[in-house]
Amino acid sequence: MGVPPRPILTSVDWITVDLYEYQARDMFEKHGVPVLRGIVADTPDEARAAAEKIGGVTVVKAQVKTGGRGKAGGVKVAKTPDEAFDAAKAILGLDIKGHVVKRLMVAEGADIKEEYYFSVLLDRANRSYLSLCSYEGGMEIEQLAVERPEALARVEVDPIEGITLAKAKEIAVAAKFPAELVDKVAPVLVTLYDVYTKEDATLVEVNPLVLTGSGEVLALDGKITLDANADFRQADHAALEDKAAADPLEAKAKENDLNYVKLDGEVGIIGNGAGLVMSTLDVVAYAGEKFGGVKPANFLDIGGGASAEVMAAGLSVILGDAQVKSVFVNVFGGITACDAVANGIVAALDILGDKATKPLVVRLDGNSVEKGREILAARNHPLVSLATTMDDGAARAAELAAK
Ligand SMILES: Nc1ncnc2c1ncn2[C@@H]1O[C@H](COP(=O)(O)OP(=O)(O)OP(=O)(O)O)[C@@H](O)[C@H]1O
Ligand SMILES: [Mg+2]
Repeated sequence: MGVPPRPILTSVDWITVDLYEYQARDMFEKHGVPVLRGIVADTPDEARAAAEKIGGVTVVKAQVKTGGRGKAGGVKVAKTPDEAFDAAKAILGLDIKGHVVKRLMVAEGADIKEEYYFSVLLDRANRSYLSLCSYEGGMEIEQLAVERPEALARVEVDPIEGITLAKAKEIAVAAKFPAELVDKVAPVLVTLYDVYTKEDATLVEVNPLVLTGSGEVLALDGKITLDANADFRQADHAALEDKAAADPLEAKAKENDLNYVKLDGEVGIIGNGAGLVMSTLDVVAYAGEKFGGVKPANFLDIGGGASAEVMAAGLSVILGDAQVKSVFVNVFGGITACDAVANGIVAALDILGDKATKPLVVRLDGNSVEKGREILAARNHPLVSLATTMDDGAARAAELAAK
């Protein structure tokens, strides 16, 4: 009692926090990575004032947590403060891949001679760190990796050794930097690795890393993903989490200590145990193909002790998702037996009353399955139907969602 529940570790990545570019820029600066000035602006007037303060040519940049901002019209050069005002007006409110721009960064303009790519990340599969680096920038990295894989160096980084100056040179050479540039770029890679380790990041990416006309190497655009499991020793990190940008349903789930991740589909999912829920997502996505591509709407693991309150909290989060058309409850009774879960579902439906409006397909199996099914059958709720197998339940929920 009194111990906060720990998140269950699965491949669902809810325990990391992506930073905005301006936050990454600040973090770079703190660790000595060469960056240009950047000032946050939330209105066109603030953008004009920021451009005045910086002086000269500036670049007005959308602050959204998605890539391809430039192509979407979210990065504009401004020669004067008035142009920065106009650029801000054009960019604020833009929808970039579903992210509405509410904040900008006005950055000092760089005289770019060449663009490069660098990242260091946690390589889970190999239980190691991996650095990716290319002398050829200016192209999206995913595209480069597919079209010219030989131009993208992949160098394993030993977490004990880290990126020393010698290692940084090895990376730069592998990335095909010419000899005279290797010595210039390597110290910057060392500082970027400092950010990676000292801030407990799982990703530090710079795209582009640039060479300026005067021969400086600068990080022009940064992306940092932090490992939230390290928050206990990173007192500053809590302030970086963007509560407003977080999905309201995810925020509600968090308040109730539920492991919930919003997805894009129509079938709400509740299960117990992260592994079972992950498999349920797969089975529903597969079943949904027959019904016009219906997909899971969320990941929700109610954990071991599926009490009525937890079930009600989970159901209300899922039913609060306007996209959800049906719900699939998939529970395997273990320590918490199926009768307790069934009682939880019945009580949850009573707690929710009129708010429960969408059909629920329930599949119970495992400990005390017979008793569980009896309880649900006896309650005979008009929204609830029972499935005997996971495949059957998934198919039924998908069919209901497609109607
Ligand atoms: N401060 C700056 N000065 C001059 N040019 C810039 C500056 N910042 C960005 N640019 C130019 O704009 C391009 C796109 O900028 P940036 O990399 O920040 O956004 P993006 O790549 O479109 O977004 P994302 O990295 O999120 O996909 C850069 O490759 C660079 O050529
Ligand atoms: Mg970029």
